[in-house]
Amino acid sequence: SPTKKPTASKFDFMVVSNRLPVDRCSSDGNDDGGDGWRRSPGGLVTALAPMMTKSDGAWVGWHGAPDETVRPFSHEGMDLVPVQLSSHEVELYYEGFSNATIWPLYHDVIAPPEFHRTWWDSYRQVNKKFADAIIRHAAEGATVWVQDYQLQLVPRMLREARPDLKIGFFNHIPFPPPEIFAQLPWRREIIDGLLGADLLGFQRPSDAGNFMRSARRFLGASVKQQQVHVKGPDGEVTHIARAQAFPISIDVDQIRELAARPDIIERAKQIRKDLGDPKTILLGVDRLDYTKGIGHRLKAFEELLREGSIKVEDATLIQVASPSRERVEQYRLLREEIEGTVGHINGTYDTIQNTAVRYLHHSYPVEEMVALYLAADVMLVTALRDGMNLVAKEYVTARSEDDGALVLSEFAGAADQLKQALLINPHDIDGLKSAILRAVNLPPKEARRRMKLMRKQILDHDVDHWSAEFLAALEEKVVRDDS
Ligand code: G6P
Repeated sequence: SPTKKPTASKFDFMVVSNRLPVDRCSSDGNDDGGDGWRRSPGGLVTALAPMMTKSDGAWVGWHGAPDETVRPFSHEGMDLVPVQLSSHEVELYYEGFSNATIWPLYHDVIAPPEFHRTWWDSYRQVNKKFADAIIRHAAEGATVWVQDYQLQLVPRMLREARPDLKIGFFNHIPFPPPEIFAQLPWRREIIDGLLGADLLGFQRPSDAGNFMRSARRFLGASVKQQQVHVKGPDGEVTHIARAQAFPISIDVDQIRELAARPDIIERAKQIRKDLGDPKTILLGVDRLDYTKGIGHRLKAFEELLREGSIKVEDATLIQVASPSRERVEQYRLLREEIEGTVGHINGTYDTIQNTAVRYLHHSYPVEEMVALYLAADVMLVTALRDGMNLVAKEYVTARSEDDGALVLSEFAGAADQLKQALLINPHDIDGLKSAILRAVNLPPKEARRRMKLMRKQILDHDVDHWSAEFLAALEEKVVRDDS
């Protein structure tokens, strides 16, 4: 196989996430460096790739294929250390505990979380697997950055085996209030696992606050400002972890460059034309997930059609719903529900010429996404709960003419940065309807004023800025304040 060997066996900088930042592709493709892998889309890998290739960096993660062993390899100068998962582990650790326990629990129990001891056992064992890979490959004094809710026990496991490491953790999803977190039978173990880190990053200050309140309530930690003092059995402070907000962002340059490319601008025009050149195109782009409020969005849109405030001759809603976690029960149920609703709306309001909702259960390359952003007059982000929501940031970044309107849920982390969006509570269907109508009819001057301010905010805070801030904070020494 043409797979390149890793450049080192010990690394100074290690990132670990459930998924490796590469996807498998056929090895006869021409954009894969000939090794059968392609770099995944997304800001995280873009932000970290330069450090991966410059320093002795490596990324540890699952390669996505159950029951398959892949040796460490190097792709585009990035060293990758694959973790193997059996199909049993994928079922219990990934589909079970990560995505049917933690995911719904951390998103305000929009779907009921399931608590199973076998899932928890597997989560612990798989976290140990990831930790072991780092323990084996990290150089003395290395910096390790653990990503997301699938790996919350890794920081503690690392600290116990390797007190020489500098350990960061970033939670990409919300952290729930202690009143909800309390439901978890293993709440103490999770908090303790996280508190192995030197620095814990969250999307919003409220997430960091929720975590600190849980650390106090369930582990008796004392919290001073952003420092969590972890105590040993004799009440002595054994470790200080810091918890702070670092709102993640996107690869701004990539989106801007694509939005300026003539072929993509042309493609956006073609999309409009193919839809029959409606006056208004509304757009929703989500993983097909119950946290995204797709049903609420469709309900509001349908009522606007029913009342005649929006006409199918004038407006089309493009809903891209990318397939996600399809073996998890709640995701199957959601797909049936959404597809039933779309069928109902289109059956009622479509004409031979016009469609109300153009529903696409696909994922698209970033080029097509940017063309959609350029084609859309109104972007609808109606999440019931969302750590950040990068789609909102991508839309704003793509709108280089400073036009277009963003309807944004206040329950998405992005609402902290995008204050000039038309902010909504998606549960308030009347409020959502008036925001959609307002967005459709927004006077160009007002649209421009809002978009300008939002674009400036994102252009000044891209994903490089995010990772640099986090890693700089991780390097800072804790000043112990015992007063
Ligand atoms: C969210 C999570 C990520 C996850 C992604 C896709 O953004 O924060 O950790 O990778 O969803 O989900 P999947 O289960 O396919 O990895």
